[in-house]
Amino acid sequence: MIASSESDLVVEPLVKAVQALGLDKIQHHIFICADQTKPLCCSKEKSLEAWDYLKKRLTELKLDQPKSTRPACTFRTKANCLRVCTQGPILVVYPDGVWYHSATPNVIERILQEHILGSQVVEEYVFLTHPLPDCFSSVPAEVKD
Ligand code: FES
Repeated sequence: MIASSESDLVVEPLVKAVQALGLDKIQHHIFICADQTKPLCCSKEKSLEAWDYLKKRLTELKLDQPKSTRPACTFRTKANCLRVCTQGPILVVYPDGVWYHSATPNVIERILQEHILGSQVVEEYVFLTHPLPDCFSSVPAEVKD
């Protein structure tokens, strides 16, 4: 639920966006390096092929929107650069914090089938696993108030 300290005119479009996108139902958020300003980890063409494949398959698998049969969804974001800049396309899955290299369409398909749907990390393409800490437990008490 969005805090409603702003006027209804400001908040209403945001509430609609939350509902339309299923933001409050996100279970995984995938970031991928694509359409880079300076393509370093892979060519711009290869990154866009990966991004287009990710979008297409999330839609085909009906993972992009919550459904009555599966109330959670997977969000995707195209990052200009994830700052790794080698062996791309680079892709990271949150909240798990699993970083993948060489995220070509074939690897993305495995990530979707095995990691997102099967809860099994595709180990052979992982170069780091670092889940983010629980943000509320790491915030000092004086900041929470
Ligand atoms: S260019 Fe892909 S991570 Fe930097």
